[in-house]
Amino acid sequence: MSHDLFEAARAAMAFAHAPYSKFPVGAAIRAEDGKIYAGANIENLSFPQGWCAEPTAISQMIMAGNKKIVEMAVIAEKLPLCPPCGGCRQKIAEFATAKTPIYLCDETGVKKTMTMEELLPHGFATNVIG
Ligand code: THU
Repeated sequence: MSHDLFEAARAAMAFAHAPYSKFPVGAAIRAEDGKIYAGANIENLSFPQGWCAEPTAISQMIMAGNKKIVEMAVIAEKLPLCPPCGGCRQKIAEFATAKTPIYLCDETGVKKTMTMEELLPHGFATNVIG
């Protein structure tokens, strides 16, 4: 992974709106167009209405016309190795392949690299729908 993806995730974390959990998270995606799309978690006073950093980054990617995650980095200020939550794994999987690398980072860089299939074994998949 080139350093710019990590830097984008870390920079995105600074934009987190996390006044309730005080747990800022940043995520960055390199898409098929080679560009980076980043996001942070955005919480809400009505707690269930908030969302994670990963879907913010996915939204950025989609609205720029991309559908494929080539690689992705996730970082949380207060957790040295922040794995995407269960729901986010399914959201990432929608635009990834089994071998897509997900980099779990701390403030110094990548601490662990996992593939999509390692992160979400036996994820929901079917060819009956769509
Ligand atoms: N959070 C993320 O942004 N991504 C994850 O994968 C785990 C959790 C956020 C949601 C919430 O704003 C805060 O971290 C605490 O759960």
